Formats: sequence, structure tokens, C-alpha cells
Amino acid sequence: MAISSRLQVEPLQAPESSGVNFGAVVPNANLENLTDADFEVIREALYTHQVVVFKNQQGLSPKAQFELTRRFDPSATSYGHGKTLDAKRSILHPDLKTIPHQPQVQVIGHGFVAEHEGLTNIQLRHPHHKTFHATAIPEDLDRDHTRFYRWHIDAALYGELAPPLVTTLLAASVPGGGRRQTCHYDDDMSSDDDSLDTLDVALGTTAFASGYTTYDQLSPEDQLYARTTKVEYAEHPYIWMSSAKSRADGLGLVSQGLELAPEQLPPSDPSQIQTLPMCWKNPLTGKLALQIHPSAVRRLHLADGTVVDDLAEVRDICHRLQRPGIAPRNVYAHDWQVGDLVLFHNRGVLHSVVGAFAEGEVRLFHQCNVAASHFPVGPDSEVDAAGN
Ligand SMILES: [Fe+2]
Repeated sequence: MAISSRLQVEPLQAPESSGVNFGAVVPNANLENLTDADFEVIREALYTHQVVVFKNQQGLSPKAQFELTRRFDPSATSYGHGKTLDAKRSILHPDLKTIPHQPQVQVIGHGFVAEHEGLTNIQLRHPHHKTFHATAIPEDLDRDHTRFYRWHIDAALYGELAPPLVTTLLAASVPGGGRRQTCHYDDDMSSDDDSLDTLDVALGTTAFASGYTTYDQLSPEDQLYARTTKVEYAEHPYIWMSSAKSRADGLGLVSQGLELAPEQLPPSDPSQIQTLPMCWKNPLTGKLALQIHPSAVRRLHLADGTVVDDLAEVRDICHRLQRPGIAPRNVYAHDWQVGDLVLFHNRGVLHSVVGAFAEGEVRLFHQCNVAASHFPVGPDSEVDAAGN
């Protein structure tokens, strides 16, 4: 007889004013030795709640973190970005260090760490928006005010590697002190203007926004557009965008013509370009998430065969569709405690690094995802896509 799971899954209790309708906490999981019954509960929780927080997982081995991550897609084995990170010019390269004995797990964080999991004398660097945004918060306000660094999906978006199903993040070390920051959406920070969006966040939060909410909030016309449009991503997107700059809200890039030209990129193969549905179907609920990596998008392919090629226009369309989804009331900003392992549905949410650490504030995380064995599924058919 199969042994049933004793895992408790507690949906997050968002305040009434909040639009956050995702997230759950599991207080009692033994992730080091996960039974099949436990995993089935976790799988259902993941596709139901999109972000699942496991408490008290300090000391979880990188191997167990990898096994949990891969269990969602057992035939997947390579890190979500594969060898594309070998390219020194990729914007992702400096932020990741690989655990030698479990190379699918990366160490990320901030500050100097003398020894950790076989890595020695590592200097970690929490990405700061001033290195990526077109404008930055003035230095003298930087301690208390911050930005979303970059809203994204973890995905290579070029070549054979399909966007990972899930990503896991384990907080091995978190600076104490309970410092908080105000996250600003706009370049203009004047506090007497109530129309400007801001979000009060814990230092170094990871922010999540639901692609389902983004889709559900659209007008019926925009939902039809989203269901029937395909998104073409740039070739070598993380090198291509390496000189370009982000909007103040971290949701895509401003168009200043700074993207690298084809001759500045590694050799490209048109057959490796990824063109994905704008909406990705949840394998359990069948719901549609509007999932665009807003910084990597290059063209839109519309239902009638039109190709939107003008980059500024492409970005404006994506921003208009996605911006309501990251409104303050729709964002879950996780307040990290040591031992938190956050498992998130990479095909159902967007996420962003937030915040800026001070000198001496050390944080150390383990991150894992694996490229999926299959690409995301969009609306079933033209009939479905048309809503009939
Ligand atoms: Fe990420």
C-alpha cells in the first residue's frame, strides 16, 4: 500500500488589499529524502500556487536540491543556460559560480566568502540596478531606495535549451538586521506624487509576479492578441542586450539602439532562434500565463501573419501587456530567512532580484534549474486560441 504524504501546504495569506493570489508555505518537508508521495504533493502545490516556500532547509545538500529540481522533469540534466554562460560577454556570467561537486547548482549572493561547498575565497556580487538601468537612484538615497533589477524568466531563449520548468533558491546565509527598502517603479522619485508606484520590501527580496494574473487582467481583445501572438527572441540574447539599458521598472529595455549588431555576436544559426507562444499553459490547471522575457524579445508574430519588427514598438507592446501584472498589489516580495528554499514555477511567474546590499552584508544562496526536455505549450489550437 502506498504511504501517503504528511506534508502540509499552507496557501500564503495575502492582505485583503493585495492582488497576490499565488504562493504557499510548506513548513515540514524532508527534502533530503523525499518520498514519491511527498513529491506528488509538492508537484501539485507548485502548479497550483506557483511559488512554494519550504522552511528550515538550512544544510540541504546541493545534490538533494538538484534532485528536487530535476524530479519535475527527470530526463533533463543540464543547467538552464547550459554552456551559453561560457560566453564571457553574457550579462549573466559574473553573477554565477558553480558548486564543483554539483555543477547544476550555482552559488549567488553578495560579499566575500572564504569557503563554501568546495569553493574558496569567492567574491559574490548582488546585481545592482545602476549597472543595468538607463537611470539610477542617486548614491545618497541608495541605502533606503531601490529598484527591481530585471524581471525575467530563467531561460536560454536561443538554441536547443527549453525554459526550465522550475527554479529552486536556497538561502544558506542572509544578513540580519531586518533592513527594508522602498522599491521604485519610476525614474521620478518625488514622494509627494501619490500616482507613482512604490513597494516596501525586505532587503534583498526576490519579487514574483504571476503570469496568470497578467493574462487574466487583460481586456478580452488583449487576451485574444496574447493567445494568438508568438514571441521571437533575439539571437544570443544575453550578449545581444549586454550594452542596452533597462527601464526604471526593470520590465524590459529602453530602445536606444545599443543592442549589439549581428557581426558583434558569436556566429548565429537562424534555426536556433526560439519563437515561443506568448501564453504558456499550466500542465495541471490548464490556465494560461502571459510569459514573455521582456528584455530578450526581438519580434512579434501576429495571428494574421504580420511580423512586428520595429524593436521599440515590440517592447512597447510587451510593456503595455505586462506592466499591470507587476503593479505593487500583484507582487509577492519574499522576505528571506535562513533555511528558506523557494521553489517557483518558471513558466508561470516572472521574478526579479531587488535591492542593494551595503559593505559587509553577506548573503549566500544556492540556485538550481535545469533546461526542460520540452518547450512550453501554448493555447491548444486556433479554435481554443480564438476563445471558442
Ligand atoms: Fe532568475
